[in-house]
Amino acid sequence: MTKVFKTVKSSKVVISELMLPSHTNFSGKIHGGYILSLLDQIAFACASKFSGHYSVTASVDTVDFLAPIEVGELVTMRASVNYVGKTSMIVGIRVEAENIQTGQIKHCNSSYFTMVAKDKMGNNVTVPGLILSTDDDIRRFWNCIKMIANKKDKQNHEETFNYKSEEAFTELSKYNVQIDLV
Ligand SMILES: CC(C)(COP(=O)(O)OP(=O)(O)OC[C@H]1O[C@@H](n2cnc3c(N)ncnc32)[C@H](O)[C@@H]1OP(=O)(O)O)[C@@H](O)C(=O)NCCC(=O)NCCS
Repeated sequence: MTKVFKTVKSSKVVISELMLPSHTNFSGKIHGGYILSLLDQIAFACASKFSGHYSVTASVDTVDFLAPIEVGELVTMRASVNYVGKTSMIVGIRVEAENIQTGQIKHCNSSYFTMVAKDKMGNNVTVPGLILSTDDDIRRFWNCIKMIANKKDKQNHEETFNYKSEEAFTELSKYNVQIDLV
């Protein structure tokens, strides 16, 4: 069967929503959990549209909250598939908030969600290949390769590192901790 390839552009999804007082935390800013929920929805839409299959969230790899979001701001989320494996896709999402009175726009959040495509029976299903058409497409694909490698290194470290070695305890003395084992 011929392998299907699709452009990054074809995966793009944009949503905008005005932030309501009901979404605030105790300091009067928009709750991070509410933004996470919107991020998950757009990642789902983007991955499902690209793959042609409903997708599930396998991992939320990075969520950096760069600036608070205020009530009354218009939040716009832009998502695209940055990387594809066999059945997985990494969706990159950029979040901006616009003050609708001044028109000022701030970059509030960048996130990376790993989504896996599923068929009707719930089995993982192969996704199309990705056509990289711009310098940004290539840069983002490489950043994902690096992100996956870093994640594997961390897993490997967790499995092999001796947390109770002399070296490990000496290293901990440089941190803001007191070892008080019971
Ligand atoms: C995530 C899930 C799909 C993984 O499927 P699996 O059959 O157990 O695992 P596999 O090892 O075959 O992985 C399938 C793909 O997911 C990727 N993957 C699995 N776990 C991952 C993780 N934690 N982070 C990033 N990628 C992951 C694998 O790399 C693989 O990618 P590839 O096919 O492109 O090479 C499966 O565990 C699942 O359905 N989890 C529940 C998802 C869900 O319900 N999400 C909503 C939470 S409320």
